[in-house]
Amino acid sequence: MSEKKSSLLLKNGRLIDAGQNLDGKFDIFLVDGKVKEVASDLDVVADQVIDLDGLWVLPGAIDLHVHLREPGYEYKETILSGAEAAVAGGFTSIACMANTYPINDNAAVTRFILEQARSAPAKVLPIAAISKGMQGEVLVEMGDLVEAGAVAFSDDGKTVPNSKLLRHALEYASLFDKPLLCHCQDDALFADGVIHEGMISAGHGLAGIPSLAEEIDIARTIMLAEYLKVSVHICHLSSRGGVELVRAAKARGVRVTAEATPHHLFLDERAVVDLAYREALDETVKPSMLCYNTNSKMSPPLRAAEDVAALRQALAEGTIDVVATDHAPHEATEKAVEYSLAPFGVIGLETALALALRLVQEGDLTLLQMVARMSLAPAAILGLDDRGTLAPGMAADLMIVDPEREWVVDPAKFQSKARNTPFTGWRLKGRVIKTIVDGRVVFSS
Ligand code: DOR
Ligand code: ZN
Ligand code: ZN
Repeated sequence: MSEKKSSLLLKNGRLIDAGQNLDGKFDIFLVDGKVKEVASDLDVVADQVIDLDGLWVLPGAIDLHVHLREPGYEYKETILSGAEAAVAGGFTSIACMANTYPINDNAAVTRFILEQARSAPAKVLPIAAISKGMQGEVLVEMGDLVEAGAVAFSDDGKTVPNSKLLRHALEYASLFDKPLLCHCQDDALFADGVIHEGMISAGHGLAGIPSLAEEIDIARTIMLAEYLKVSVHICHLSSRGGVELVRAAKARGVRVTAEATPHHLFLDERAVVDLAYREALDETVKPSMLCYNTNSKMSPPLRAAEDVAALRQALAEGTIDVVATDHAPHEATEKAVEYSLAPFGVIGLETALALALRLVQEGDLTLLQMVARMSLAPAAILGLDDRGTLAPGMAADLMIVDPEREWVVDPAKFQSKARNTPFTGWRLKGRVIKTIVDGRVVFSS
């Protein structure tokens, strides 16, 4: 006896789907968690019909770089709270980094994450570490981890300083057809730096992190991938020099992909002292906030204005394939300390979509490019062949956006447990009002 099929008809929305190269009014028929049909004026009988006149339908965003803190640091974020934040921001799949406690360097931790994720509203995809304990010495058992459900490998938070180990990791990851996501940083040059080495670090006496710290390591990583003829993914590009290395490698045919975060696309080193962003802030923001802000501290750091311009250009031309948040929750008291003592990291799941839309509003990206960077490209990198686009047969993962809705970023309203956003007080336009995963409405506002 077959179970009754559940169906949902989305009528009259504007579908923007890079995978099908569609931008226009379409009806979308979802049956049993999958897209059944996409056409204008569909005449079908459905269990539920939602009229989306004036609203947009986008494939669910896919974030290949988040930190969920469980196991071990549940006070910062749990798999559940992180997934709630994800769907509130239009993300239907999120891949979570291995720097938990214990580190996700063995099958038991990967299975634990998947078990916890069963009740989560978004798809949670575990990324396993590259090296045991992320110590950069011994390779993890990649085969075991793939079998347990790891979708990628990364020691994110740290580089893999040993080039021979990185070589082996690239070779094995390629054998298993899983991406290797590299946090590129030369540790000696990074040293005890806390912000970008430039105008603000010099003016405020804060230890600097030169762009060179990422550029040297990106160059090394690309050279290894090129030599081995395998693919590699570079996390959170922050500098113009890093962009140029990736651009040149792509031009030579190296299989390198790269991501940029919304914070690196919108903020520069001046965010450390907030002042430069006064014009972007809503008038309700109090002047007392205009002092140093540890929510501008992350790794890699916010760089100079010319770096931001280079990242935007690279995102538009496709040198940067993906927008990823690097959602890095920290508890409020951990950030409420002297700048140099604060942990690196900011959250991003609940602001990324509206910021990506702002790139479109500012004329830096087309809508279809934005959807490609948020859904199609990350699905391709993670090898999710039934997600990233809403073509018939694909999973019914999507978001419904009100493009006209204006809102002010207020961390108190986040689903995330954490509040450490650098975008507090920003007035943004475009809001996710519904998120659907596998055909089920998992978020509604
Ligand atoms: O800012 C960051 N925070 N960068 C990283 O690479 C790690 C992350 C974290 O885990 O907090
Ligand atoms: Zn990182
Ligand atoms: Zn990260």
